[in-house]
Amino acid sequence: MCGIVGYVSSVAPTAADHLATDVLLQGLGRLEYRGYDSAGIAVVTGDGDLASEKRAGKLANLTGAIEANPLPAAQTGIGHTRWATHGGPTDGNAHPHLADGGKLALIHNGIIENFAQLKAELAADGVEFASETDTEVAAHQLAKNYRAAGDLTEAMRLTVGQLEGAFTLLAVHADAPGTVVAARLNSPLVIGLGEGENFLGSDVAAFIDHTRKAVEIGQNQIVTITPDSVEIIDADGEAVLGEPFEIDWDPATAEKGGFASFMDKEIHDQPQAVADTLLGRFDPAGNLQLSEMNIDESLLKSIDKIVVIACGTAAYAGQVARYAIEHWCRIPTEVELAHEFRYRDPVVNEKTLVVAVSQSGETMDTLMAVRHAREQGAKVIAICNTYGSTIPRESDGVLYTHAGPEIAVASTKAFLSQVVACYLLGLYLAQLRGNKFRDEIQVILNELQTIPEKIERILTEIKPRVGEFAREHQDEQSVLFLGRHVGYPVAMEGALKLKELAYIHAEGFAAGELKHGPIALIDSGQMVFIVVPSSRGRDSLHAKVVSNIQEVRARGANTVVIAEEGDTEVEQYASEVFYVPQTFTLLAPLLTTVPLQIFAMDLATAKGLDVDQPRNLAKSVTVE
Ligand code: F6R
Repeated sequence: MCGIVGYVSSVAPTAADHLATDVLLQGLGRLEYRGYDSAGIAVVTGDGDLASEKRAGKLANLTGAIEANPLPAAQTGIGHTRWATHGGPTDGNAHPHLADGGKLALIHNGIIENFAQLKAELAADGVEFASETDTEVAAHQLAKNYRAAGDLTEAMRLTVGQLEGAFTLLAVHADAPGTVVAARLNSPLVIGLGEGENFLGSDVAAFIDHTRKAVEIGQNQIVTITPDSVEIIDADGEAVLGEPFEIDWDPATAEKGGFASFMDKEIHDQPQAVADTLLGRFDPAGNLQLSEMNIDESLLKSIDKIVVIACGTAAYAGQVARYAIEHWCRIPTEVELAHEFRYRDPVVNEKTLVVAVSQSGETMDTLMAVRHAREQGAKVIAICNTYGSTIPRESDGVLYTHAGPEIAVASTKAFLSQVVACYLLGLYLAQLRGNKFRDEIQVILNELQTIPEKIERILTEIKPRVGEFAREHQDEQSVLFLGRHVGYPVAMEGALKLKELAYIHAEGFAAGELKHGPIALIDSGQMVFIVVPSSRGRDSLHAKVVSNIQEVRARGANTVVIAEEGDTEVEQYASEVFYVPQTFTLLAPLLTTVPLQIFAMDLATAKGLDVDQPRNLAKSVTVE
């Protein structure tokens, strides 16, 4: 989820004014929330010279480098702020990537799935690569097509036809000053219309300081902007019209994609986060391809125990993973809070696979547990959202989640993508170990691919009602959450979100534990959320949870039920029901968590609290 900006102007720049560099850097400043591990720009002068600068780290590093060594005055350029997916956050892997002897520059947001195959073909043609990125492959492929077609727009059209994945590309060429060409395939791109200048951006924040007029373009379309024209074509080269709109957001709102908070935006990012985490990880025949983890397959086949270590929300993702991995792989799986694991002398050895789950990759408790596990001889795989962070670097292998940067302190989209990555790991281990479950892998992968659309439905159809319900209950003092099986970690995550965001006492319990103590808390009006499993399965879990609803209801609880569509039986025992789409039992947390996130966020917002920066919390906890 990188940030992209493109700019063309007819105004002749002076050394101090109307510089493409200034417009691009300003746009990147507005887009930095989309990625901040490296940044770069490329400009083309009126004389047809291309110059670029890029730096690892925050945008300030790039700005400092350009101040020290200014780029030539130019009217055309592209800029990029990166959230790494292929290749660590280094100067070399930062965008733009150059090709055609340094005359073509390209930036990219998204994932190119078939980059390895294209890279091999280009290498056979004699192309030498300067980075580890999938982007550089697109740059060289575009240069190859440009040499053949002699036109940058046509070359981009041909290139898009050869690339697989979800991406936005922007390119400039020294031979085409005053032109930026872009392509969009399942990744965001919007045009900004100015007077004698035009813009491109991954979102309107890229150019909101310059124009309020924008044009939306469709998927699989190519755009060419010059200072005075905007041309859009489809994959067949036919001209198409974009959808014009006026931007009525202020710049701060624009950075949040028009949402009131980063948390709201990130909750809405979840369909994409899930889709991106799945992307490129299995082929159409259902064969998982996770060689990126860099752990010897024979070793993965020989492990006899898995221990998932993590903290907070990431640990709840681990708890969901345990149900799935044990069921699919029949490998004993434990989940432990990293800080408890580290200091209790755990039994792990070279036959143990430790899975460290961390959004930031910098959580000190998890890092210490990783080091300790490796000292005992265990192999460690990190599941992480932050490329090049410490935990992946110190692990034996890593499986990245592709949620994009998470700005709100409390985790939402990272959680769902961690759960997805855990599923992929479990399915991969099942595939490697060749157990009889293998035939079902394809069916589960197919179902996983339907999840983004199902989350989207929750966001459009159910979210408003959950929000209204949350606002009506903003004075609640204590809320309990119950669940069984995978619904249990969901209940705990729901409680954690409410504590963190709304500062309300909240607890998550295993529903079966109720009668062993917590039921004493139930009194008239006590709000209890119950996460109900599917009623379609063979087991009796559904009936057991329905009994639990009845037990608390009989004692006066206000029962709020999260159930799957079609489960009308629960209605008679529920004060309120929120239905989520049907899916397989083990995958249900990807759906049932979402209404709980919305409830916590909207209740906290109704109380006037800052949901992006809750009190006393930090996004990355780098002390033990
Ligand atoms: C809760 C939350 C925290 C983190 C925990 C681990 O909303 O965000 O509980 O999940 O601090 O952080 P990471 O995943 O960065 O290791």
